Amino acid sequence: MVNASLLAHPLADELTSVRHTRPCALVIFGATGDLTKRKLVPALMGLAKDGLLPTGFAVVGFARRPWSDGSFRTELGDGVRQFGRSDTLAAFEQLQEAFTFHQGDFADPAAYHSLRLELDRLDQKRGTAGNRLFYLATPPSSYSSILQQLAASGLSREADGSFARVIVEKPFGRDRSTAQALNDQVREGFRERQVFRIDHYLGKETVQNILALRFANGIFEPLWNEKFVDHVQITVAESIGVGSRGGYFEESGIVRDMIQNHLMQVLSLVAMEPPVALSAEAVRDEKVKVLKAIRSFRPEQVAAATVRAQYTRGSFGGEDVPGYTEEAGVAPDSTTETYAAVRLQIDNWRWSGTPFYLRAGKRLARRATEVAIQFKQPPHLLFEGGKQPQPNVLLLRIQPDEGVALRFGAKVPGPDLRIRDVRMDFRYGTAFGGETADAYERLLLDAMLGDGTLFARGDEVDEAWRIVDSIVEGWQRSGQRPLGYAAGTWGPDAAARLLEAGRSWRKP
Ligand SMILES: NC(=O)c1ccc[n+]([C@@H]2O[C@H](COP(=O)([O-])OP(=O)(O)OC[C@H]3O[C@@H](n4cnc5c(N)ncnc54)[C@H](OP(=O)(O)O)[C@@H]3O)[C@@H](O)[C@H]2O)c1
Repeated sequence: MVNASLLAHPLADELTSVRHTRPCALVIFGATGDLTKRKLVPALMGLAKDGLLPTGFAVVGFARRPWSDGSFRTELGDGVRQFGRSDTLAAFEQLQEAFTFHQGDFADPAAYHSLRLELDRLDQKRGTAGNRLFYLATPPSSYSSILQQLAASGLSREADGSFARVIVEKPFGRDRSTAQALNDQVREGFRERQVFRIDHYLGKETVQNILALRFANGIFEPLWNEKFVDHVQITVAESIGVGSRGGYFEESGIVRDMIQNHLMQVLSLVAMEPPVALSAEAVRDEKVKVLKAIRSFRPEQVAAATVRAQYTRGSFGGEDVPGYTEEAGVAPDSTTETYAAVRLQIDNWRWSGTPFYLRAGKRLARRATEVAIQFKQPPHLLFEGGKQPQPNVLLLRIQPDEGVALRFGAKVPGPDLRIRDVRMDFRYGTAFGGETADAYERLLLDAMLGDGTLFARGDEVDEAWRIVDSIVEGWQRSGQRPLGYAAGTWGPDAAARLLEAGRSWRKP
């Protein structure tokens, strides 16, 4: 069923031609937590404001605290006020009745029995038609008992044409074997098409624009290979430190927290072959193929192909900031990395010999996520004297200042033939204006629609862990401490050694 107000939405033509939201109940496990308040409910209200929620809709919050429906709604309203897009509070006020609270412990079978009764009641009361979407917004340690109980209680079963789907938050495992165990557990209750593994980077407009840029245009794809591309740099730089998440970060480190998921996902969209269609399976088949073509490292190769470092005391925006080991929840002798740079080779016809350099770090000089495709120099440089022109770079800026830029050489006006680098710049905000929807809006909508294109499939997660595990194993075997870099800089100087042949890291 399509919400009538959808027809007034600017995306209506696109959506109604192929996509229909069906009524459903969304059950949020971990509904008193931070993610629900800061991201999920504000995103739902963004969808409500744009008329994209189905008419039969309900949200059941599941957590331990003895909250009433009233206190749950008050807390969520507060979240929408603080974190929602403009005008979403009015949508929440209109839709408050759709939110109910279900108190229970994740491990208690009785709580699932009463949840089922509650969902049956909502089918009658709010027209949710037996369709259920379960969202695991909990610490990963709870996934196992929730999945077990959903399977045991029969809530994961799809009956009479209704759907049952599960959205799993990151992190999906902490290495390949825990991810495989989690995949096995998910599959005890759900088939792959019912499973939606979130990587919120895939919900970002600019990440999806990688597909549009590559496959909606004729001019880029012919150059998109080892013949023309010298190398690719993918950067996810954060200017903040670990803040209050020190305890969590100690258990993961940047390679597990960012590279395994966000950077590998972006890499696979940049490097994959054109899919035969933009369907979930076709796109993900190509993504997994390119991940399979990436060599994992033998332990003795890791030192030469990676750099691992931890921020030390420094300054940011004129203020002194603490080093990582001085942060709350962090061991004083911690060896957890807050910066990692990796050189990857993709062993296929398209990319053989073109390195992909990935780096991610906290407390770097600027917050920036970008993909830089650096092209080869022309075979023969005609313009002698003065500065050599820089290689052409196609820059995909994912955040902030979302857009695409092309750097090329142009003649400096005047009697001499002098070349200077200039940029052609497309900015999302200027071209399209308006407020961009949060990544969670798109992902929640897609999960309701049953479209898994922007979610990681089990085999993608597995391949990404294969690569990351080989890096972590090399670091563990070497027994070396991470290098240091001062907070507020672009990371350790040693990272330059990964880039051979006169290449250098960009400073976004
Ligand atoms: N926060 C973010 O911005 C963010 C961003 C990206 C990804 N994530 C991921 O999202 C997930 C949730 O993060 P979060 O920050 O929202 O976690 P959180 O604030 O720690 O919330 C945990 C929730 O789980 C509930 N809970 C824990 N054990 C329970 C049990 N045995 N029975 C019933 N309820 C239980 C808690 O309820 P009670 O306290 O009421 O028991 C609370 O609602 C994590 O996987 C995280 O990695 C979070």
